[in-house]
Amino acid sequence: MILSPSLLSADFGRLRDELQALADAGLTWVHWDVMDGMFVPNITFGPPVIRALRKSSKLFFDVHLMIEAPERYLADFADAGADLLVVHAEATRHLDRTLREIRRLGLRAGVSLNPATPVSALENVVELLDLVLIMSVNPGFGGQSFIPRSLEKIRETARLLRANGSKALIEVDGGVDPGNTPQLLAAGAEVLVSGSAFFAYPPYAERLRVFEEAAAESR
Ligand code: DX5
Ligand code: ZN
Repeated sequence: MILSPSLLSADFGRLRDELQALADAGLTWVHWDVMDGMFVPNITFGPPVIRALRKSSKLFFDVHLMIEAPERYLADFADAGADLLVVHAEATRHLDRTLREIRRLGLRAGVSLNPATPVSALENVVELLDLVLIMSVNPGFGGQSFIPRSLEKIRETARLLRANGSKALIEVDGGVDPGNTPQLLAAGAEVLVSGSAFFAYPPYAERLRVFEEAAAESR
């Protein structure tokens, strides 16, 4: 299990300290929720903020682009220091081209699916994927409840990837907590995003341990 804490629930006034605290607590990934007020109703941050924090952090920057036509900004996010760019299948008209461009920039490429988008949206781009992000809430806000149907979508994604010999990781985002962690991992998720169920429970090393103990139950 990889835990990717969503900075959406961190203290925006002290992001540098939060990133340091995550690294000190033993986390290796951090999840950036980029929102444009168009694809989702909310607005957060963009490349300048990521660039500023890249300077002081070695964490793996997992960048979730909840923006319309993300192809316009791929180079900016690459230049800012993202490691992985995840675009929404619903937000880009030429998904194949967008994924190829992310890889051409030297980054890992991921696709995210909203709760109402079928897994079949991935079928024709499987070989271009390093990660699939299954949204288990409708994107836009932290602290929403997990949509149970997402478990079946994770299983279906795992089958699709396996059938195509893909090693892409499956990530799940929205309403994740230690309570549903065993089921999510058993269904095939490998990267768990957690915002409100992580940042509200410091110290972070202790919270990571709680997630890891929950993960051990699924083995
Ligand atoms: C939702 C974001 C999530 C969100 C998760 O639009 O993509 O990453 O921060 O927050 P929690 O874990 O609170 O559901
Ligand atoms: Zn996210």
